[in-house]
Amino acid sequence: MVNGQRVAVFTIEGRAYAIGDRCPHRGGPLSRGTVEQAPGSGPAVRCPIHGWLFDLETGRCLNQPAASVPVCDVPRETV
Ligand code: FES
Repeated sequence: MVNGQRVAVFTIEGRAYAIGDRCPHRGGPLSRGTVEQAPGSGPAVRCPIHGWLFDLETGRCLNQPAASVPVCDVPRETV
């Protein structure tokens, strides 16, 4: 939890990413999504409900450009 919001944390190749856990489509838990390497982007998480894909670096939705989730800075020394 950060400021009362659920946060999904992913550790990939020694780096941590933290994004809002609630998918902006219908509230799916992104913490239960699958991580994949998106073409032309960095690591991304796919929502387990309907499959929207979120860039873990920017929070931008890669298949619904108007949608995004908040991202949190994670100090490197926390990994
Ligand atoms: S709830 Fe996440 S894509 Fe629909």
